[in-house]
Amino acid sequence: MRHIPLGTIYISPTTKKNISAVLRSKRLSYGPFCQEFEQRFAELHDSTEGIFCNSGTSALHTILTALKIQQGWSDGDEVIIPIVTFVATVNAVIHAGLTPVFVDVDSKTYNLDPAQLASAVTKKTRAIMPVHVFGLPAAMDDITDFARSHSLVVVEDACEAIAARYKGRSVGSWGEATAFSTHSAHIITTGVGGMITTSNPELAELMRSLINHGRSSGYISIDDDDTNDSAKLRGIIAERFRFEEVGFSYRISEMEAAVGCSQLDDIETILQARQANTQALLQGLRPLQTWLQLPKLDNNDTVTLLGFPLVLTKRALAKDPQAAQKLVWYLEERGIETRPLLPIIGQPAYDHLHIKEEQFPVGAHITRAGMYFGCHQDLSAQDISYCVDTITSFFSEWQS
Ligand SMILES: Cc1ncc(COP(=O)(O)O)c(C=O)c1O
Repeated sequence: MRHIPLGTIYISPTTKKNISAVLRSKRLSYGPFCQEFEQRFAELHDSTEGIFCNSGTSALHTILTALKIQQGWSDGDEVIIPIVTFVATVNAVIHAGLTPVFVDVDSKTYNLDPAQLASAVTKKTRAIMPVHVFGLPAAMDDITDFARSHSLVVVEDACEAIAARYKGRSVGSWGEATAFSTHSAHIITTGVGGMITTSNPELAELMRSLINHGRSSGYISIDDDDTNDSAKLRGIIAERFRFEEVGFSYRISEMEAAVGCSQLDDIETILQARQANTQALLQGLRPLQTWLQLPKLDNNDTVTLLGFPLVLTKRALAKDPQAAQKLVWYLEERGIETRPLLPIIGQPAYDHLHIKEEQFPVGAHITRAGMYFGCHQDLSAQDISYCVDTITSFFSEWQS
């Protein structure tokens, strides 16, 4: 039986060369590969600063904590987030001592619906955090316009959206700061890893400090020791164990950065292969649109899907309320790995937030009827045909 995993790890000859260089250098902590990866990643996302840390969740937590300090937010202040996202978006808000306020999503893009923002704003709202789910960009023009007119900060959760562009402008450059994830199955995968982008140098300095235990920004890495000037050296020695904020230990190593740099070398190949698979899936599944909603790709955007989302239509659920569950079982039994479409409604972890399903009709439908599977660069044309044929045969058996 074929196996269609959700994600893959891209390893090239350069990956191996880079890893050998790290081992030869005996330098595992923050060093030249981290610096190179940060700089190139930031440039790819139209930003001046990149900060590599150990996860997308750490990146989100660090951004929110830094903004809370810099802007003087209080515990319990509110951050608006979409009801369809990975749990880490919600968790980061809670860990930062802030309150998540959910809004419903757009039925076509599965992203935060800007039309819902007005009713979610209160006196305590400080930020909006749209999530670019599966690499589909959120409506950043409307969201940033709304934020500007209500003096709110925008933070992007682009953990799933490396290299995506909305109306010609990169994700990661619309908000005050943005979090990306390079965890396995993401578009660039370093095993574990997260990147923050921003073009605000003061915020960047604070965030670099926060991921380093809140250390003084005069001494962030051991390279800061490199000076022949003894007056400067004495200053550095004084800074080494000076901590200005209650920070975190969210650092990452040269190994992950070395892998990340090698993948950036080949990012165009990775993106094109995923985009070709996406087009083949869209074409192959189009005849099933009575029962299946396919992802909507806007011609004005550059979209590279992290996974291929499927949402059964209301008509399908009206015919058979168990249809989505049956499709998942059918696919999994035939080697096609699936995941639910980022459900927040119904998570036991959020019982205390008293999320009321009826307030989020679109999110509730996506949660009941949605799933995704892989469309990554290591899937061949035969693998993609196998996915199309398997889904098609499910629907012909299901209808008969
Ligand atoms: C939307 C979203 N936000 C945050 C994260 C957290 O990233 P990480 O797993 O690197 O902590 C993920 C992970 O996939 C995600 O999909």
